[in-house]
Amino acid sequence: MVTEATRKSLLKVRVMDFITSTAVLPLLFGCVGVFSLFKLLQRMRTSAYLRNAVVVITGATSGLGRECARVFYTAGAKLVLCGRNREALEELTEELTASLATQVQTHRPYTVTFDLADPGAIVAAAAEILQRFGHVDVLLNNAGISYRGAIVDTATDVDKKVMETNYFGPVALTKALLPSMIKRRQGHVVVISSIQGKISIPFRSAYAASKHATQAFFDCLRAEVEQYEIQVTVLSPGYIHTNLSLHAVTADGSTYGVMDKTTAQGRSPVEVARDVLAAVGKKKKEVILADLLPSLAIYLRTLAPGLFFSLMASRARKERKSKNS
Ligand SMILES: NC(=O)c1ccc[n+]([C@@H]2O[C@H](COP(=O)([O-])OP(=O)(O)OC[C@H]3O[C@@H](n4cnc5c(N)ncnc54)[C@H](OP(=O)(O)O)[C@@H]3O)[C@@H](O)[C@H]2O)c1
Ligand SMILES: *[C@@H]1O[C@H](CO)[C@@H](O)[C@H](O)[C@H]1NC(C)=O
Repeated sequence: MVTEATRKSLLKVRVMDFITSTAVLPLLFGCVGVFSLFKLLQRMRTSAYLRNAVVVITGATSGLGRECARVFYTAGAKLVLCGRNREALEELTEELTASLATQVQTHRPYTVTFDLADPGAIVAAAAEILQRFGHVDVLLNNAGISYRGAIVDTATDVDKKVMETNYFGPVALTKALLPSMIKRRQGHVVVISSIQGKISIPFRSAYAASKHATQAFFDCLRAEVEQYEIQVTVLSPGYIHTNLSLHAVTADGSTYGVMDKTTAQGRSPVEVARDVLAAVGKKKKEVILADLLPSLAIYLRTLAPGLFFSLMASRARKERKSKNS
């Protein structure tokens, strides 16, 4: 008589037999193998692309820019770190060069201090970088400033300030470096835009406008420089846990100084920096780095604008009510 136990073990043997005798197991290992190999090749391609590459990062003193500096440094890039705060740039340089030995040879970063709202300073900075390194492989336009306020209360000078930092600054820096990239027929312009470069949410007018303008400009650039084999990557992150909202400017030009809940709950800048590195390594044209909801909102704006507008209007009503209470 066959007991329950032997019946079970017989079944087990048969199942194992099936798995090993058929192609299931080899197929499974095969897939995992091909996938890992693919990932490995991708990583090797990224590191070959960035090793010894001259990479200029704006806004390297804080948040996402600082984390990007870390990952590109570790990848062996020759960094040019930019910001307004010289001390913070020096501190970051010391911190990077003091970090433990990495797999690839690293290079001591070079720092350039300038204000993106100052066109003359941008031209001088670009000339200094080209004189020092001869060329730029990757320009990462990351620096930016956010804004909080109602349009009706906002001084036009505030709109201009946000546009100068987020739009005219990166445009001027890119133009200053572009002729050298065209001459070499090599170069990569990367831009940190935002989900707000795709959709506008209430009380963020100047910021959303500057990011929409950025998206438009760099989409044009991508088309115009393809013939010179120059890459353009536009990245649009959702909320990232940085000090961006603390540094934001308000309707009267003062600093907002509040860590917004949405920002505090955002993705870690360390993670987003890794995604930036991967996107640059893969020479992606455009990447949305956000959760499902913001990504859906972009589709809604295109496919059902009426619905999107009423959702935003109700958001504005709620936000105003919570501010007044
Ligand atoms: N945090 C988010 O939720 C989020 C979401 C989507 C997109 N982004 C974008 O990500 C980028 C990085 O922002 P973050 O979140 O890392 O903010 P952050 O921590 O405030 O960093 C902003 C950086 O920009 C630099 N900067 C600001 N104004 C400048 C000026 N006039 N001239 C030169 N540099 C200037 C700052 O350097 P100095 O103070 O030294 O000048 C700082 O390094 C921005 O483009 C932002 O729009 C952020
Ligand atoms: C935010 O600012 C604080 C205080 O200056 C700093 O210690 C911290 O590193 C900053 N955070 C990020 C993500 O930049």
